[in-house]
Amino acid sequence: MFKILLVCALVAMVAANENIAVIEQVSDVQADGFSNKLVLDNGSASSASGDVHGNIEGVFEWISPEGEHVRVSYKADENGYQPQSDLLPTPPPVPEAILKALAYIQAHPSKE
Ligand SMILES: *[C@@H]1O[C@H](CO)[C@@H](O)[C@H](O)[C@H]1NC(C)=O
Repeated sequence: MFKILLVCALVAMVAANENIAVIEQVSDVQADGFSNKLVLDNGSASSASGDVHGNIEGVFEWISPEGEHVRVSYKADENGYQPQSDLLPTPPPVPEAILKALAYIQAHPSKE
């Protein structure tokens, strides 16, 4: 459902701005999955594919107002939505003492 809304939103945005040309548009919906792709002539694009189990992989990209090429790829499956991009913030490294503690806990599981 989300992807259908996303595609509709993108198509609506394209329709609202007549200066933007669609370079490529693919929408393939099958009984066992789907794939879609939209490429605009201003550097914006998105594509996604998914299976019947609801697993989805995709990419979306655009040129930021600062002129930077933003690209986010993602996977959505039983582990949730997992975006990846050089531009996404990353957590600080886990402190050495915490890593040691986790290794100790793993090596010495509590007895029931
Ligand atoms: C490209 O066009 C889309 C659709 O009109 C718009 O949402 C997006 O902001 C545009 N990107 C740039 C860099 O102008």
